[in-house]
Amino acid sequence: MVDAVYEEARFASLYDVLNPWQPCYEFYRKKMMVADSVLDIGCGTGKVLAEARRSGHRGRLVGADPAAAMLTIARAKTDEVEWLCSDVQRLPTNDRFDLVVMTGHAFQLLLTDDDIRAALDAIRQVLGPSGQFIFEVRNPVVRGWEQWTDRNTRRTVSAPDGGVVEVVYIFERQRPPDLVDYETAFRFHDVGESYSVSSTLRFINPTRLCEILTATGFEIVRQEGDWSGAPWTSASPEVIMTTCLSAD
Ligand SMILES: C[S@@+](CC[C@H](N)C(=O)[O-])C[C@H]1O[C@@H](n2cnc3c(N)ncnc32)[C@H](O)[C@@H]1O
Repeated sequence: MVDAVYEEARFASLYDVLNPWQPCYEFYRKKMMVADSVLDIGCGTGKVLAEARRSGHRGRLVGADPAAAMLTIARAKTDEVEWLCSDVQRLPTNDRFDLVVMTGHAFQLLLTDDDIRAALDAIRQVLGPSGQFIFEVRNPVVRGWEQWTDRNTRRTVSAPDGGVVEVVYIFERQRPPDLVDYETAFRFHDVGESYSVSSTLRFINPTRLCEILTATGFEIVRQEGDWSGAPWTSASPEVIMTTCLSAD
């Protein structure tokens, strides 16, 4: 089941306002520009693919996401990208891509080892023989969720329809082994409506992530720690994985 923050149009419409263009997106756009064919899994509102096309990508660009409300926004950006309403486990298996990505910490929505293994099995089927799969997770050591407090995250934004919306992210609890529950609270001032949505992210241990990647037939080509391309250290904010299919 897809999280309501992506599935419901009133929340999805705020995604790009709350997540404007930033170095992580530029990192992926540059990777896309040098790949002939690209599949963005969990593409959401499709901003990296749309920007790659706008900045001159001439090859095949495909975005897949199970949340129809997010794809509606993606489709409005451009019809020069193929948009597929699909979960990572239900990708069309007759296609092969030079680059497969999962951006915006979408990989952290895979909550169990089984979910990750099933996703990686599906990605193996759509990756060309010399293709790369690039994605990132937040480094759990940094304990980023501790910053998700009313004081740190409350903000007021203008929605695309002109309405004023107050949004706050609140950490709720950690659940063993590595899950973090949090709440997103929305207050739509113009209509006087408030909503609270509960979500869960997995903060997988990087060593465990490498074990699963290797066991499912991936080789780690590079592991970076931030969007400037710094090599990963145990204290890095991000775990940015560039992988390929292992030779055997
Ligand atoms: C945090 S958003 C990231 C969106 C986009 N990649 C970005 O960077 O802006 C996570 C996206 O993953 C999608 N998603 C959730 N579960 C998924 C799954 N099992 N397979 C593919 N996408 C999924 C959600 O619908 C949502 O659009």
